Amino acid sequence: MTAEPLAFRHRHLLGLEGLRADEIDLILDLADGYVAQNRQADRKNALLRGRTIINLFFENSTRTRTSFELAGKRLGADVINMSVATSSVKKGETLIDTAMTLNAMHADVMVVRHPESGAVKLLADKVTGSVINAGDGTHEHPTQALLDALTIRRRKGRLAGLVVTICGDILHSRVARSNIHLLNAVGATVRVVGPPTLIPSEVENLGVEVHHRMSTGLAGADIVMMLRLQQERMQGQYVPSFREYFRFYGLDYEKLAAAKPDALIMHPGPMNRGVEIDSEVADDINRSVILDQVELGVAVRMAMLDLLTRRERTNAQ
Ligand code: CP
Repeated sequence: MTAEPLAFRHRHLLGLEGLRADEIDLILDLADGYVAQNRQADRKNALLRGRTIINLFFENSTRTRTSFELAGKRLGADVINMSVATSSVKKGETLIDTAMTLNAMHADVMVVRHPESGAVKLLADKVTGSVINAGDGTHEHPTQALLDALTIRRRKGRLAGLVVTICGDILHSRVARSNIHLLNAVGATVRVVGPPTLIPSEVENLGVEVHHRMSTGLAGADIVMMLRLQQERMQGQYVPSFREYFRFYGLDYEKLAAAKPDALIMHPGPMNRGVEIDSEVADDINRSVILDQVELGVAVRMAMLDLLTRRERTNAQ
């Protein structure tokens, strides 16, 4: 007798706020299996044969869009990358009309990135398939935090009890928000470090320690997660200059010395070398897991596509 596949109670993945530790474990355990599949010579199966996935990105992306495309194809689905720049959005078609149009073509999953916080939820309310948030404004980027968690768990063997320090532009970071929700749910300690201008007010209410000096924020940390300065979301000047910012908040070996000797260095990418992170540190093969994050991103996205289509696949049998 074959075991029933474990069900996921959500139709969409819009964020990690409210997701339980057992649900996070379910995703990470499933993703672990897909890591093995992705390292084989034949990386493809037919789990989602006949299913349609549409990538709808209203903002630029290298890692997220490519890895969702690979994830869908490795599961045997038809994957369409809709180019917003050459679509009818440029003729004035609204987000909702675009969503309804794609929905009429029977997309099973839509993967959506949008510059406005909350826009992906708005779209999810209008479609019959599942929606995955690939990053909405400064709100959430759930699959990024899941791949970060898988990277940490595979290297450290656990998440609970670790000290994770997230550094830099917390104010504009959906990656930071999703990581804070996930890491709190699984019992890690979360610290944020940055200049007062880049730390959201009342961020303590999310259950994090706030530091303004790298020396105290990194003291004894297991994980050092660096973030990009998101200039495209800034109106006005948040830092005096990149040079000054690097001096106080850029990760170099001198600042890293405050963390545990085996602390891992992470960055969601894209990196601004010499602004938030020194090139040598970013490329340190003994400490940096930045490219592991990229690799594991495909597996996590395969796990999410698998889980979100399970109910429909079971009903179709
Ligand atoms: N980390 C991340 O979301 O990268 P992309 O913008 O390249 O997708």
